[in-house]
Amino acid sequence: MSGSARTSVAVLLSGRGSNLASLIAACDDADYPAHIVLVLSNRADAAGLDLARNAGIPALAIEHRTFGGNRETHEQAIDAELRAAGVECVCLAGYMRRLTPFLVEAWHGRMLNIHPSLLPAFPGLHTHERALQAGVKLHGCTVHLVTEAVDEGPIIGQAAVAVAPDDTPETLAARVLRQEHLLYPLALRRHLTNAAPVASEATLIAV
Ligand code: GRF
Repeated sequence: MSGSARTSVAVLLSGRGSNLASLIAACDDADYPAHIVLVLSNRADAAGLDLARNAGIPALAIEHRTFGGNRETHEQAIDAELRAAGVECVCLAGYMRRLTPFLVEAWHGRMLNIHPSLLPAFPGLHTHERALQAGVKLHGCTVHLVTEAVDEGPIIGQAAVAVAPDDTPETLAARVLRQEHLLYPLALRRHLTNAAPVASEATLIAV
């Protein structure tokens, strides 16, 4: 696929950026329908920014703290950078700021998020602890379109893992994270191309 046929994607993050790494790896494939043109963080110390720079991708911190608590002005600064970079689609990957209607509406239908649970179960934080407390047998991750309600937009794809009896939040998180790294590139591809569904026909049964 030629460069111009690829969708220009930005990744927004706040932390380590392992999902960014999986998206970068996917974009290395010449046939992948996206390329990452910008990585943005609300934290200058996010490890994901270094990861981007090491991969030759422009990376920028727009620290929310410098906006004195004004969320919308912060988002306007982000939006301006996204547009200046010619971004067509935004992937949230561990972006830990709640969005205002301004950014959600500006990127309606063009902003994806990855969440570490099988939505609509366990929106919000501490999903792995809560899944263990609830005693669910299947847990996993979801890629969905971003809408105003947190973790509630239309689901693009999901990946499940079986919960083991001796799982801790940490072991479960690690297993889900491996699935996140597989899911996000597949879900983004599906979103951009309407390719075959992400989920296989196989049924995962955990008892
Ligand atoms: C992931 O678990 C993602 O599902 C959640 O935040 C975490 C980000 O991890 N939204 P990383 O920065 O991609 O490693």
